Amino acid sequence: MTKPIRFNQPYISGKELGYLEDVIQRKHLAGKGHYTQLCQKFMNENFGFQHTLFTPSCSDALEICAILSGVKEGDEVIVPSYTFVSSANAFALRGAHIRFADSMNEHPNAGVKEIESLINEKTKVVVAVHYGGHATQIREIREVCDKNNLLLVEDAACGLGSYAGEQPLGSFGDFTTFSFHETKNVTCGKGGLLVVNNENFFDRAQIVWEKGTNRSAFFKGEVDKYGWVDLGSSYLNSEIMASFLYAQLEDLSLVNDHRKNLWDTYYAELSPLGLNLNQLGSSAYNYHMFYVLADDEVQRDYWISELKKRAIQAVFHYQALHNSQFALKNFPGQSCENALKFESTLMRLPIHMDLSIEEVLQICKEFKDIVNNAK
Ligand SMILES: Cc1ncc(COP(=O)(O)O)c(C=O)c1O
Repeated sequence: MTKPIRFNQPYISGKELGYLEDVIQRKHLAGKGHYTQLCQKFMNENFGFQHTLFTPSCSDALEICAILSGVKEGDEVIVPSYTFVSSANAFALRGAHIRFADSMNEHPNAGVKEIESLINEKTKVVVAVHYGGHATQIREIREVCDKNNLLLVEDAACGLGSYAGEQPLGSFGDFTTFSFHETKNVTCGKGGLLVVNNENFFDRAQIVWEKGTNRSAFFKGEVDKYGWVDLGSSYLNSEIMASFLYAQLEDLSLVNDHRKNLWDTYYAELSPLGLNLNQLGSSAYNYHMFYVLADDEVQRDYWISELKKRAIQAVFHYQALHNSQFALKNFPGQSCENALKFESTLMRLPIHMDLSIEEVLQICKEFKDIVNNAK
């Protein structure tokens, strides 16, 4: 029997244990130490991010954004329907009303037109999501937010290393969030990052990050004691996680290069089938995901079950949020037809560092077989 091919396997660089050992030697475990600084320096040198806060997850980073935005009951936040629950949940937690933006017809991303059409006098924040690390129409969305005096949060959970034109994802929003969950290109098991691009919010962001205290100001010598000054929570991640992450960040180019080779192989092998494959724009991509769109849910589920019989794990993705149990109860009456289409037709194929080109060729052979047999 051939070895089963998993959809994802977390990358291990081999340097993690050494860096963890070093953290133990340094006897500084809680956070904001040597490895957190190295991660911050990496972000600054590679992407130009000035202010980065390392968090236990992207969901936590989104919660910080929601607190900083000051949204409350009666305010509206525009969030794509086709995204992970945290993009919306962080703002629902603060009592905001979620307006769901539909995906574009030809792409899972919610584009600028969909977002602009939902803006009204109650709108306070736009959450722009780069689906699978594919840049959304972020420049245009930034312009619309500026014109309407709205805060822009970039949820780039899967997008570290992707670009929109010459500019890295993460550099457009007032705030940006990234994820280092084990499903991402680089990981520390579970982790996240908040990038604060809007200078006006950085002092407060550090307070929210440190449980609502001015501890950061205290350690900089700006105040002589620290205490509770604002809302916040335990949003600071540990040195243990930072050291693990740094061992992976150092390999980010290597990881994304290997993923590119796998992605290009999928694209070259599957293009002749004439199916609807994900496309690359002109911007650099981090090759987080490779997906195929079926004609309908029956065909998509058939592909997944046939691949499973051949020991290949292919998976669908998000459930459209506007149609979730929680949204139907709390934010009812919204329609996002394209998001429903992507919910029922999108299939993701395995892509990770333990996968070889030979295995991708094998997956493509099996998939072509399945498609051709069904004709
Ligand atoms: C778009 C998006 N936002 C947020 C998250 C949440 O990330 P985390 O698991 O780090 O909280 C995810 C998770 O994959 C995601 O896809």
